[in-house]
Amino acid sequence: MSLSIVILAAGQGKRMRSELPKVLHHLAGKSLLEHVITTVLEFNTSQNPIVVYGHQGSMVREKLSALDVNWVEQTEQLGTGHAVLQTLSRIDEKDRVLILYGDVPLIATETLERLINNTPKNAIGIITAELPNPERLGRIIRDASQNIQSIVEEKDATEAERAIKEINSGIYVIPASYLKKWLPTLTNQNAQQEYYLTDIIKLAVSAHIPIHSEKPTHIDEVFGINDRLQLAHAERFYQRMIAEKLMREGVTLYDPNRLDVRGELIVGHDVIIDANVIIEGRVIIGNYCVIGPNTFLRNVILSDNIEIKANCYIEDAEIAEYCVIGPFARIRPGTIIAANAHIGNFIEIKNSRVGADTKIHHLGYIGDSDIGHHVNIGAGTITCNYDGVHKHKTIIGNHAFIGSNSELVAPLTIGEGAVIGAGSTIRHDAPAHKLTVSSPHQRTIDDWQKKAKKQKEK
Ligand code: UD1
Ligand code: MG
Repeated sequence: MSLSIVILAAGQGKRMRSELPKVLHHLAGKSLLEHVITTVLEFNTSQNPIVVYGHQGSMVREKLSALDVNWVEQTEQLGTGHAVLQTLSRIDEKDRVLILYGDVPLIATETLERLINNTPKNAIGIITAELPNPERLGRIIRDASQNIQSIVEEKDATEAERAIKEINSGIYVIPASYLKKWLPTLTNQNAQQEYYLTDIIKLAVSAHIPIHSEKPTHIDEVFGINDRLQLAHAERFYQRMIAEKLMREGVTLYDPNRLDVRGELIVGHDVIIDANVIIEGRVIIGNYCVIGPNTFLRNVILSDNIEIKANCYIEDAEIAEYCVIGPFARIRPGTIIAANAHIGNFIEIKNSRVGADTKIHHLGYIGDSDIGHHVNIGAGTITCNYDGVHKHKTIIGNHAFIGSNSELVAPLTIGEGAVIGAGSTIRHDAPAHKLTVSSPHQRTIDDWQKKAKKQKEK
């Protein structure tokens, strides 16, 4: 007996009021469906999980094409029971089937493991939860001995049933043989005229099949997303879990409610992260780093002892130890900065290598450049890397000194130890260890007179 996994993701999700299928909406930078798929991929099953798709299905398949799943189409969305029915020809009669809904994205592996292990092999297992506000969810009906009798959808429920706080999460483990026997017999005589998967509980009870239930470790794991308010609630819960995990691992978060991790964050020890930091993609932060407030990091590798001051935007870059970046620096893709470099305020760097101990402190643009070590680049310096058609490279040798407000017109090589006079426009290579200037000589016009302002008539 092995485990088959089925994820239902064919519904439109009308309450999202969106052109995008509900399961493609993002939570922490990843679609709802991808969350469920990545959770179940942790189970070592012999077959890929089956995803039932339908509404705008080609978009769903395309967006998640990189994942190892088997896709089954449900051409008409006639209900959750009808959706599971579409998968049965792919499932061995002897398997147990773990069923999940694509709009319940936060379920934890540990809770699923408990459901699978604690449900007897011949029984049906359901994850249920007691919610203070069970609105719109299916209610769990138990008899006087607390045995589950059925699941009733809110739209079909009596007043008394609606008062029940225990809800169906939409996550079950069910022997495939039961699904094969009962799903084809379901009817759609209910308020929504749908074939409800939940109706098999009643059938199982009549056949004296035991129904086992498990509670999630954390109640928010079973939170289903049907509208954007619920999406925002789930996002906050998820972010809080990440923040708590980071703090437990020894990261100082000045405000755990103001960190957003929309990807993977790997952090060393004694790291401090200030408020309003956003992490996207894969970010690695080394030991003793300090990340200033309002900073955005996407696919960044930081070595140890780096200080990122407030308001920096850093993307697809690698920064070596003891660098100081910002405030207000923008480091763009393809940038590699060596140890102990200082990148100051209002500096933009793109696709460039910056050598060790180099200083670029104020107001500038460095694009497609290879800058050596111990270089000083004065305020207002820009590389003119684009001629309107092509991008060109600027090479600056070790120990060069670029005077303030220089324009470096690429392709260009500035030799080792070269000095460029302030305000120069450098169009040709500048030799090593020499002063190169291009600005016209300063002169004073002796017979010049300042124009007098006319007095305003009163
Ligand atoms: C369902 C459950 C309800 C439970 C709730 C938990 C049923 C009948 N009801 O209600 O008891 O409390 O989830 O969130 O199962 N789907 C398909 N094909 C369809 C219909 C739905 O693939 O024809 C998918 C949807 O994409 C979604 C999931 O199944 O991922 C659940 O469907 P939804 O319409 O959201 O059901 P709920 O009304 O939330
Ligand atoms: Mg739902």
